[in-house]
Amino acid sequence: MAFVVLSTLALAQISPSPSGGPICPLSDSQTQKSIEAFSKLAPIFQQPRCINCHGAVDPFTKGGGHPGGEFDFVRGEDGFIDSKYFEPCASCHDAFEGWRTPPSDMLFTGKDSVALCKLMKRQFGNAVRFMAHMIRDNGGDKFIEVGLAGTRGMSDTNPEPPPGWTHDKLIKLSQEWVDAMGGGYHGDEECGCVPAHYAVRMSVSNETNRGLLHHKSALQPLDIPITFEDDGTFSGEAVANFKGAAVVSPCAGQYTDSLKVRASGQAIETTDEQSMRLKLENTSPDVSSVSIQCPYGGANKQSTHSEKTILPFDLKGNVGEFLDYSMPNIPGFVSTTHLEIVKLAEPQK
Ligand code: HEC
Ligand code: HEC
Repeated sequence: MAFVVLSTLALAQISPSPSGGPICPLSDSQTQKSIEAFSKLAPIFQQPRCINCHGAVDPFTKGGGHPGGEFDFVRGEDGFIDSKYFEPCASCHDAFEGWRTPPSDMLFTGKDSVALCKLMKRQFGNAVRFMAHMIRDNGGDKFIEVGLAGTRGMSDTNPEPPPGWTHDKLIKLSQEWVDAMGGGYHGDEECGCVPAHYAVRMSVSNETNRGLLHHKSALQPLDIPITFEDDGTFSGEAVANFKGAAVVSPCAGQYTDSLKVRASGQAIETTDEQSMRLKLENTSPDVSSVSIQCPYGGANKQSTHSEKTILPFDLKGNVGEFLDYSMPNIPGFVSTTHLEIVKLAEPQK
């Protein structure tokens, strides 16, 4: 009966709440391939020709390891250093116009493969911009090219390019990472960099007060874990156990109710589009048992209801997003259901 009651509740839908970041709709195998693909790309960022500009050599701090001396500067609130502070650079780094170090949120120092992966997700926002940067520095100054050439932007040094790297290889490995994530960026900045799993958390509480009848039943928060396929469809199942107690003076009763609930649907979590269609349905009959004690005796009753209930929901697909339902206008009956998208803790390795 517990779930059947839910079908009526769908009438009282409250609009989805704004909340945490988008869920990661990648399958376990996509995530694993993406992590592997990025770990092949990550070493380029740690090559001296890249990381020295991206944090490892800092001409603006004492002991910053810059062979050409220390320079004064003022860092802006956005982490950028005004271009005027880079004017003196050209006297030595003469073979590259616009020689400069990146703002503080683009540093590669102290970052492992996972942290670099998150940085590439965060800074570019979408895979097209990431690839455009890897292919041609997004049309700006050709830092990647000069890094791969190994000249340090100077006309009088021996080039020391990153060993084993070419621009073609960089582009190929970048594209392989994007392909492993299903051809684009999805979810939050961790999506494709670390494993992530989610559940639909459901809880229900029902209360009836009608004449001599007082009845309460509840489903404690139940996590229905969902797993994704490569196309963003997902599914998962869990057993919901409702428990309740009733008083019809002078009798008292206990109530349990059990059924399997399946969550399924599809999530689209790209930069341009975000939606999560969720369907809840019972995949087993609803088995309830009631035991009643009265001063003059008692009774136990088992019953099975095999109605099938399917409830559709439209969500955005954010962690922490929830829906609250309450039963519309039935005198003496109050029922509330809470549905929430939760991120599950990953098992410790
Ligand atoms: C007086 C000359 C001189 C000036 C001026 C100068 N540099 Fe340098 N810089 C060097 C030398 C020499 C190296 C080391 C080149 C080598 O590794 O052979 C270097 C290396 C670097 C590196 C490391 C590059 C790499 O691939 O290892 C960075 C980053 C850098 N400079 C930034 C700057 C910035 C930013 C400015 C301006 C604020 C600047 N430099 C001004 C001489 C200079
Ligand atoms: C001369 C210093 C310099 C070198 C060498 C350099 N970069 Fe950069 N890089 C920059 C600057 C500066 C930016 C910030 C964008 C801008 O100002 O145009 C940047 C931005 C980036 C970004 C965007 C990062 C973000 O967080 O938005 C990536 C990725 C990147 N560089 C990769 C590389 C790789 C890979 C190499 C080596 C092949 C490299 N860079 C070599 C200076 C450099």
